[in-house]
Amino acid sequence: MPLSFSRSCFLGALLMLLVSNLLLWENVASVPLSSDEIDNDQLYLKELFDHALILFQNISKLNTEMRRTYTDTEFSEKFHHKFMLEFFEDQEFLIKTLTCCHNYSIKTPENVDEAQKISVENFPKLILSRMWAWNNTLKNVLPILENRTGTHNDVISLAKDIERKNAVLYEDTKNILSSIYGKTENVDYTVLTGLEDLQSSDEEFRHFALCKLSYCLRVDMNMVDICLKLLRCVVVGNSDICSSQRIRDDS
Ligand SMILES: *[C@@H]1O[C@H](CO)[C@@H](O)[C@H](O)[C@H]1NC(C)=O
Ligand SMILES: *[C@@H]1O[C@H](CO)[C@@H](O)[C@H](O)[C@H]1NC(C)=O
Ligand SMILES: *[C@@H]1O[C@H](CO)[C@@H](O)[C@H](O)[C@H]1NC(C)=O
Ligand SMILES: *[C@@H]1O[C@H](CO)[C@@H](O)[C@H](O)[C@H]1NC(C)=O
Repeated sequence: MPLSFSRSCFLGALLMLLVSNLLLWENVASVPLSSDEIDNDQLYLKELFDHALILFQNISKLNTEMRRTYTDTEFSEKFHHKFMLEFFEDQEFLIKTLTCCHNYSIKTPENVDEAQKISVENFPKLILSRMWAWNNTLKNVLPILENRTGTHNDVISLAKDIERKNAVLYEDTKNILSSIYGKTENVDYTVLTGLEDLQSSDEEFRHFALCKLSYCLRVDMNMVDICLKLLRCVVVGNSDICSSQRIRDDS
């Protein structure tokens, strides 16, 4: 649905943002909107944003659940023990250091402060590159999981649920961004390497591949979530999500 979303209002906010970053994210966020300023387009966008933000939460829960279920159902006791002893403390560090997730042309910001330094024009590329990558990655992961002997049904159904919700989220973000910025052509099309390790006969490889998948998904979803929250504040404003502190606490 094409929108007549009040461009002048948004461009005004954009210009302000370009003047200075952090301060203005906060200023824009704190502009109170009176109810007659919220037209239908803005309501439609607000609903899309809110739907997307719920999907992020749900995907994040499912992702945690998938990793937990996988660990509970597929780890042999011996490996579990070894893993707990050797890797537990450093798991995150290892994955982060050894893992190249997707090769995006804009580096994934690590926190709210870094996200606020990204110019607002780069938001669509940053967000859509990640959403495309996950839509694609999850589509490719499912047949691999299903084909692999011994994958627990619960892991498969969680992965399917994540894939479905992610596909809806992808549509939501495309609609949000095209309403605000128009069509975005400039997107990275990158694939996640190492998925074939999910079927390795080596338990450590299989484990690492799933941890990597789960870790990379979490990092990207978290960042897109923060970017959309910041954007929501500029476009819709008027919400308690908009204090930087709140976004920081949530992430
Ligand atoms: C998110 O999860 C909640 C609780 O599981 C569920 O009630 C809701 O329908 C889900 N929403 C979406 C958009 O998936
Ligand atoms: C990652 O992307 C850069 C720039 O697009 C490219 O030069 C590099 O070869 C890529 N690396 C991999 C591993 O694909
Ligand atoms: C996103 O994934 C869904 C489900 O896997 C697929 O049907 C759809 O074509 C994908 N969209 C794009 C643009 O690749
Ligand atoms: C399924 O597994 C078999 C045997 O390991 C393999 O030959 C086949 O290519 C796999 N199919 C897919 C879709 O991964």
